[in-house]
Amino acid sequence: MAGPRLSVAVVLLGVTIIALGQGEDLPCRARDVGIPGRSIVCVCDANYCDTITREAPAPGTFVVYTSSNAGQRFEKSYGIIQTVQDTVEEESSEEIPDSESEEEAISSEEDSLSQVVFRLFRISRYQSIEGFGGSVTDAAAINWRKLSDGAQIKFIESYFSATGLEYNMIRVPIAGSDFSEYPYTYNEEPWYDHALSNFSLTSHDFFLKLPMIKRSQLVATDEVKITASTWSPPIWMKTNERITGFGQLKPEFYQSYADYHIRFMEEYEKAEVKIWAITTTNEPINGIIPLVNFNSLGWTPRQLGRWVADNLGPTVRNSRFNQTLILAVDDQRYIVPIWLAGMAREDPKSIEYIDGIALHYYGNFVHPIILTAIQNQYPGKILLSTEACEGPMPWDREKVEIGSWDRARKYTKSILQDLNNYVVGWIDWNLCLSPTGGPNWADNFVDSPILVYGDQDEFIKQPMFYAMGHFSKFIPRGSVRIRSARQSLVTVENAAFLKPDGNIVMVIQNTRTRAVNVRIRISNSRFIDVHTEAQSIKTIEINDN
Ligand SMILES: *[C@@H]1O[C@H](CO)[C@@H](O)[C@H](O)[C@H]1NC(C)=O
Ligand SMILES: *[C@@H]1O[C@H](CO)[C@@H](O)[C@H](O)[C@H]1NC(C)=O
Repeated sequence: MAGPRLSVAVVLLGVTIIALGQGEDLPCRARDVGIPGRSIVCVCDANYCDTITREAPAPGTFVVYTSSNAGQRFEKSYGIIQTVQDTVEEESSEEIPDSESEEEAISSEEDSLSQVVFRLFRISRYQSIEGFGGSVTDAAAINWRKLSDGAQIKFIESYFSATGLEYNMIRVPIAGSDFSEYPYTYNEEPWYDHALSNFSLTSHDFFLKLPMIKRSQLVATDEVKITASTWSPPIWMKTNERITGFGQLKPEFYQSYADYHIRFMEEYEKAEVKIWAITTTNEPINGIIPLVNFNSLGWTPRQLGRWVADNLGPTVRNSRFNQTLILAVDDQRYIVPIWLAGMAREDPKSIEYIDGIALHYYGNFVHPIILTAIQNQYPGKILLSTEACEGPMPWDREKVEIGSWDRARKYTKSILQDLNNYVVGWIDWNLCLSPTGGPNWADNFVDSPILVYGDQDEFIKQPMFYAMGHFSKFIPRGSVRIRSARQSLVTVENAAFLKPDGNIVMVIQNTRTRAVNVRIRISNSRFIDVHTEAQSIKTIEINDN
């Protein structure tokens, strides 16, 4: 008897929550960082952490999530889809105009500077989305493990669970990167071991990276797809026999280095972690033009083409891991066309073997239209952003800018540009770092969306965390980007998607220091109006059914 009654109560409760629009989310526990010009951070510990639950909009309605420099974090608001007839009837008793004349009605000069209008076209569809995520480096896992069990759980939930950002992608370094306590590789001894007879994972895998990955997969709301990248192979494979500097692969070890990737996937498989994609080595330019002092392996375009065509491609495709994606280049956008062209010239089979192209964030002063050009030249290859962080440049005065809204703005702008130029997913760099942006054995400290204060058993979510979430939480895998056409003089940065469930999701960023009104037309007669606060990011989910 109690059973049915209980479920009725639960259903009623559910209905009430949706009708009132009151989620049960825990709000950001805000901390003023005490630096002029900075936004707030949200403080989490073993006992408290802010949550965010997606609310499904009822037919004919929409839900808005807002974060802003002023301190909003995923603040929810609600609205109803309007039709042209509705508004006209409210405003005057004149004849119902068609949509064209309605458009003219908003063209007074004052309006034209504060009113943004978009028209979405569901039938104009572009790339399908794979997902969003962050990287499980040694540094991220070391910081995470400084937290108590309770705080570790809150951390993982913040990124991966239904009350967090619902990340569904992870990138993991194959052995060490600069974000390790010291440089290391697998199979360091004995030297010149062609057969990789002594390949073994390290304590960094068993106690740091694998536990963090597995805990993430346990709470995730979708399959977490893992992309793995090598920074440097064992130094005996390299021409300079050093972990960094000008050095490429010795030709006699081309096959061993391909096998190195298979051995890694075998060992991770034993730990029940499947690798979805591998990249063809992190940032190949670093071993050609050695401006950095961390783990690297140089590939000229032609060398990379030779290795992929003769070794990596056939080795992966003839292995048990034949479904693993091969993502080429894994470097800044401006070098990608040169590397792909060189690979194709060396051996066109190298291009056939690759499934996609991996992109990094640090060359984004080059216009994003280059990505559309790459997509057009290499149709059928996915574009995936595999690394991004703020603060890595020599001219970045502060590596960590605690509470920086500006960095959230840059992330949002870059993600929007990438998505509008055929990128299918976006993986952030370290999931968390220390308050000084480490550890990093090469002193290449940078910022991260989460900073961990181990001695206080707390972690803080920076504005960048919320910027990531405005995409990752609301644009599930399988969503398709649709066309968003501007119909006003002024505009805001934006991208629009059709979800697998048929709802529309739009992300908009207002970088101005004043509010603007955004009208989103979803058909000739139906639209929504969204007041968009100064310096804010909004995700809007519209149920137009
Ligand atoms: C195999 O690797 C381990 C480190 O993982 C090292 O201690 C050992 O000496 C290596 N064995 C040989 C035969 O080189
Ligand atoms: C691909 O790998 C699967 C196992 O993962 C295997 O069953 C299948 O035969 C492989 N296909 C080829 C063409 O090697």
